[in-house]
Amino acid sequence: MLSETRQKKHGTLMKKADHAEMLELEAQYCSYGDTVHYVDPAKKFASCSGGFLYDDEERPYFDLQMQYSAANLGYGNFRLTDALRDQLQVLPQLDNQHLDEQRILLAEKLAALTEQRFGVKGRVHFSIGGAGAIEDSLRLIRKATGKNFHFAFMGGYHGRTLGATAITSSYRYRRRYGHFGDRAEFIPYPYCFRCFYGLKREDCGLYCLKQFEKLFDTEYYSFWDSKAGECEFGALYMEPIQGTGGYVIPPTEYFVGLKKILEERKILLVDDEVQMGFFRTGKFWAIEHLEIVPDIIVFGKALTNGLNPLSGFWIRENLIDPSDWPHDSTPCASPQGTAVALEVLRIFEERDFTSEVQQKGVYFLSCLQRLKEKYPQIIGDVDGLGLALRIEICRGKGKEPGPELTNRIFHEGLKGNLVAEGSLYGLVLDVGGYYKNVFTLAPYLEITYPEIDLGIELLDQLFGRFERPAGAF
Ligand SMILES: Cc1ncc(COP(=O)(O)O)c(C=O)c1O
Repeated sequence: MLSETRQKKHGTLMKKADHAEMLELEAQYCSYGDTVHYVDPAKKFASCSGGFLYDDEERPYFDLQMQYSAANLGYGNFRLTDALRDQLQVLPQLDNQHLDEQRILLAEKLAALTEQRFGVKGRVHFSIGGAGAIEDSLRLIRKATGKNFHFAFMGGYHGRTLGATAITSSYRYRRRYGHFGDRAEFIPYPYCFRCFYGLKREDCGLYCLKQFEKLFDTEYYSFWDSKAGECEFGALYMEPIQGTGGYVIPPTEYFVGLKKILEERKILLVDDEVQMGFFRTGKFWAIEHLEIVPDIIVFGKALTNGLNPLSGFWIRENLIDPSDWPHDSTPCASPQGTAVALEVLRIFEERDFTSEVQQKGVYFLSCLQRLKEKYPQIIGDVDGLGLALRIEICRGKGKEPGPELTNRIFHEGLKGNLVAEGSLYGLVLDVGGYYKNVFTLAPYLEITYPEIDLGIELLDQLFGRFERPAGAF
């Protein structure tokens, strides 16, 4: 039986429920899919600030994943919560047939920032949630190219809607929902630590790229008509660093070569920056590291620091006909989202996030490398670009993935019994990777150096519970 305070007649939540009671309510009334349940039972947090989540006892849990890289500027960032509160008091909502000044200014700003980087003029379309923006991009590509088949990468994740699921590589996400007629053609991502072809980067000669190019040798490889010079596929969807795939950082040369192949075949390149955009990697757009220019950039999450589901895409001017691009959702580009997003961009303008994030990233990675040396039996690989960092958990000294061990470490962090500076802490991690054996670290961008040291200290203790250290750290 649930307590009486929980059973208020009109369902108003009057009193803080205890954890067990909440779980019971969830099991009874929620779709369950809306909480991913990687943690069983799901953890309950009461508040958040900076890089920390706090439980009911106010115990801090250092969050090294920040809402899957949405809360890049920290939880409870006053500038952003103030912007939201101010907007709530002035114009909290507006239908989309009237001019929202902020939506226009935001589009202008994003287009200008993108043009500065790539020298290309474009337009911005807003949407709701990362998957919604991917869906809209698919719709627009259909219109611009007449094509509904695309390439996408193994290990890629693009969202939960039917269209986004069709270009997401994992069959686990599609399995329950029947046949996907528009399923993408998936090609291997240049994940050099686990090369699909079993080669080593030092002497592979970018074999994976050559294999991709080979697909266009003859029409009998199934989708290239050399007489018409036309491909059956309209676009290639890519993540500049694979997010859910385990923060896989690709070699730049691969993408330089890939872009050339795509251009020669008139295939669009869609850059999904939903997870890596907005300075996660130390560049405004992560694709800047890859020295190529995309045709479309999809963004979401960190645009509003995770405070509003505002998302969208930027597209080259010549690919969109603004007089013939109907349809938007009712809550699309709500003034609440655009107000916060403009403030996010102001914050980015005021500081040199490029060097700050890159320097912190270099320091964080050097600490992870020392942890790898200290725990050679469980850490197979560490890598990072800016503050997108990875720890790949392997068994023994080889590369055999250790998903069960990863899961145990992940749960251990959430127990909240790590000790630093005489206080108890928990550690919030996220698990990704093709084998679910990678900790994908996305600390908030304003993390301080002492906080990085604290994070490393907590990781050190955590790993120390699963492997005896190989020497002094
Ligand atoms: C690269 C990428 N694209 C798209 C999405 C979907 O975004 P959302 O969860 O906001 O729908 C995600 C979510 O993690 C993502 O990482």
